[in-house]
Amino acid sequence: MTNEPKPTTGEFWDGFYRERDAVWSGKPNAALVREVGMLAPGRALDLGCGEGADAIWLAERGWVVTGVDVSSVALGRAAKHALDAGVSNRITWERHDLATWEPVGDYTLVTAAFLHSPVDLPREHILLAASRAVAPGGMLLVVGHTAFPPWSQHAHDGEAPLPSADELAAALGLRPHEWTVETRETEGRTATGPEGQTAVLTDTVLTARRASD
Ligand SMILES: C[S@@+](CC[C@H](N)C(=O)[O-])C[C@H]1O[C@@H](n2cnc3c(N)ncnc32)[C@H](O)[C@@H]1O
Repeated sequence: MTNEPKPTTGEFWDGFYRERDAVWSGKPNAALVREVGMLAPGRALDLGCGEGADAIWLAERGWVVTGVDVSSVALGRAAKHALDAGVSNRITWERHDLATWEPVGDYTLVTAAFLHSPVDLPREHILLAASRAVAPGGMLLVVGHTAFPPWSQHAHDGEAPLPSADELAAALGLRPHEWTVETRETEGRTATGPEGQTAVLTDTVLTARRASD
């Protein structure tokens, strides 16, 4: 037994990102491209934005984006990538722990892609708060794993099972007269892990469109 204090969420994720130069692919998530590609740009909020690929893709399409993450290391990388892509004037990067911070505002799109964590994460609570930040006529997009990738499985041992998109929709209790909800599980895609290892993964996708006033 060691008496080392448990790292905070920010410390855990900063350490995670510091272990590697680039963790994610730098490409936007396929579900985002599919679900949002046809929407007219507005204000977007990306929760758990990581190294910023989704936020940058949105900004390149004219969205004004706020990217939020608990890791300042990830946000530093995201800001650099945005600068390189020439879209830093359309993205604000904010460091918050979503367990205790709630977005306020009227976003045309609130997106949370793979907002999973081996450190305590009140995901449902966060996504409920996210739904409240969606403007009338706007969209909530939640993309998640159906099962943890083999390279991160051990880190999630002991966590509650991942919800299906239908289970998540039920848990969020989005009222039918206010929201049009669609859920699906994607076809398998080949994903590359942090050490270059590959696996075929499927994702859960929930889109919820809020009725216009
Ligand atoms: C699996 S990564 C996904 C990153 C990105 N959305 C993507 O699809 O590549 C999860 C991200 O959520 C962030 N995160 C985890 N817990 C968080 C919390 N409590 N508050 C804010 N961000 C958090 C992590 O720092 C990490 O960047």
